[in-house]
Amino acid sequence: MGARVLVIGGTGFIGSHVVAACVDRGHDVTVFSRGRRPVTPGAASIVGDRRRPGPATRADLETGWDTVIDTCAHTAVDMDVSQSIPAQRYLLLSTCGIYQAAGLSRIADESVPVNMHSVARGKVQCERRAALLPAQSLVVRLGVVTGPDDPSGRAAYWIDRALRGTGVLVPARPDQPVQLVDVRDVAGFLAAMVDSEHTGVVNVAGSITLFAEFIDLIRAAGHGESEFHWAPEQFVLARGVRPWQEVPLWLPTDHPFRAHLRTGTDRATQMGFVDRPLSATIADLISWYRTHRYRHPHWLTLDREQALLRSIGGS
Ligand SMILES: NC(=O)c1ccc[n+]([C@@H]2O[C@H](COP(=O)([O-])OP(=O)(O)OC[C@H]3O[C@@H](n4cnc5c(N)ncnc54)[C@H](OP(=O)(O)O)[C@@H]3O)[C@@H](O)[C@H]2O)c1
Repeated sequence: MGARVLVIGGTGFIGSHVVAACVDRGHDVTVFSRGRRPVTPGAASIVGDRRRPGPATRADLETGWDTVIDTCAHTAVDMDVSQSIPAQRYLLLSTCGIYQAAGLSRIADESVPVNMHSVARGKVQCERRAALLPAQSLVVRLGVVTGPDDPSGRAAYWIDRALRGTGVLVPARPDQPVQLVDVRDVAGFLAAMVDSEHTGVVNVAGSITLFAEFIDLIRAAGHGESEFHWAPEQFVLARGVRPWQEVPLWLPTDHPFRAHLRTGTDRATQMGFVDRPLSATIADLISWYRTHRYRHPHWLTLDREQALLRSIGGS
């Protein structure tokens, strides 16, 4: 008999994969969300808003669970409802973005202090409240997650470029680290943690690769239709191109978040976390991209990219 599992936010990008992985392991899964997206087959559903749960929603949530997996707590107030949900275990999704990375070249492990002034400081408050719950808690700090359906478009940007058959601007340095974890490996790990006894904090991030290797993988998988041009990052920065938002995964050399792309995951490995090769994730992203043609509105436009390439003599 599987565990009774409640996945708060189980219809999101990561949550829907977590639900599928828990169902596959034979758990009895219920999703709690506001009902704006479909529920993965095999799971039951409680519809409500965690910030304003009505009496009926509260009654459904208070039936008791072996494990709660909370994928959508962002500020302290989000944890109010968590206190009234009886559970043996509480798994909270947090982010490696909370580490105080200034002056560090990498985040060695979970003992690196957190940054109370970062954009993710709400997650720090959630983590602190999770530690006070009567349930055994495990905080899972995620690195950059991708895979088919990734709404951030971080990897899809480069797939789009690889398949487009044009010149492609690469402002990152070839030795910039890239650390991507496949959403399905995150989900498998969380499903395995449902009935484990691990507590505390664990970083879950992918293997570290270099931007040059990442581009080689993308080019190989895209069958070389596009030509990639490495551009000096200062040149591109001086022309107002925004790293990460407009050109996903690019973080300039002195960017304070660079250390986050070299996050240590030894504890996760000891706990059984296994990540697939990046080439496998890229192959699946390409299949997904070919049918979905996903494009994010913040991406650098083709016209602007080609103009930049002409000015460096690359097109
Ligand atoms: N993606 C990454 O690279 C990354 C990296 C580090 C950490 N994380 C963390 O991973 C977690 C999951 O991210 P995601 O990208 O999968 O999120 P997402 O796609 O935005 O999904 C959010 C989920 O929460 C539900 N939800 C939102 N507000 C709610 C509310 N007030 N009450 C009840 N349900 C609510 C949504 O459904 P409804 O809208 O129907 O309510 C949906 O099921 C987040 O905590 C994020 O900070 C992600």
